[in-house]
Amino acid sequence: MYWDNALKKISWSDFNGLLPSEKVPYLMRDGWPYHALIAQQFDRATLDTLCNLATKIRTIAKTKEGALFLQSLLADKRVMLYFAQPSTRTFLSFASACQILGIKTAEVRDTATSSEIKGESAEDSVRTFSSYFDMIIMRHPTGGFAERIAWVLSNSARPIPLVNAGSGKDQHPTQALLDIYTLQRSFERIGGIEGKKIGFVGDLARGRTVRSLSLLLSQYAGVKLYFIAPEALQIKKDILATLDEKGVSYELASSLEPLIPELDAIYMTRIQDEWDDDTVNSVDNTSFCFSAKHLPLLKQTAILMHPLPRRNEIDVDVDTDPRAIYWRQVRNGMWMRAALILSIFGRAHELNQWK
Ligand code: NCD
Repeated sequence: MYWDNALKKISWSDFNGLLPSEKVPYLMRDGWPYHALIAQQFDRATLDTLCNLATKIRTIAKTKEGALFLQSLLADKRVMLYFAQPSTRTFLSFASACQILGIKTAEVRDTATSSEIKGESAEDSVRTFSSYFDMIIMRHPTGGFAERIAWVLSNSARPIPLVNAGSGKDQHPTQALLDIYTLQRSFERIGGIEGKKIGFVGDLARGRTVRSLSLLLSQYAGVKLYFIAPEALQIKKDILATLDEKGVSYELASSLEPLIPELDAIYMTRIQDEWDDDTVNSVDNTSFCFSAKHLPLLKQTAILMHPLPRRNEIDVDVDTDPRAIYWRQVRNGMWMRAALILSIFGRAHELNQWK
């Protein structure tokens, strides 16, 4: 079927010069993400549809017949997992999502084992993948690199979709999708995400999950966001400017404990010390950690989240409390990523064939 690929009609320098919100139409096909690169591509209706799809897939997968039906859906597709940065969960989550849908996968996880070591550019490597595969799922340390690759792929003779599995310090849209799915399920019986108070704690300057999730949360009426971090690691101005533009209320705070009783969700993050700056990395985060002594302060209906991996931010003693849901987040990610992949291939309607 002919598809009007918008990224073919704009030069790289013009596209690269656009604001994130202006890039959105170039990344969509018929109003749905084709390349899934930035949180700005997911409006409220898209988020609701994806959450419903994830639940449908999770429900169908409960029986053997259902699981085999799901594996037939994309048995004609092959996907490349290109992870040029360390990953445990996100890699396995995407690999599992592909298995659920019957997709065959291949992987490059260490660029030292690919021809990049012979001097091939990452762009050429990715074009090579596009000769063999129907989608590329990519994690890369360079912010904005996913956009460049999406443009290159769209302007090649064999355009295929690209999914961003974490780019530099800027975005991690699929983690944000699974976080939304987790929040939605957790608050289902208490009025949904609308009107909830959500606190982000830790390294908000370099944590890409918080950046993408704050943008998605701006679509839920009445939410209030609390950014709780040492000054050197506070959330960047570009995110606050977007929240201002959308009329989302927020507060910046430098202490976690006094806020615990107020919050409906607390999203903990680790210090991202693989990046730059030693002075920032030596910041003392002890007052930005959650331990068992904090549990009595936490609302009965509240949830404690973490994108993982964790270090000292959440004491392991907290894990058995039913409000600690970070291991459920991990599993939710698999269903949400299956929903995203199925819908990018334009095949979500085939779920209706399951009675
Ligand atoms: C996060 C990431 O890679 O940004 N991990 C993940 O994908 N679950 C968070 C982190 O590394 O701290």
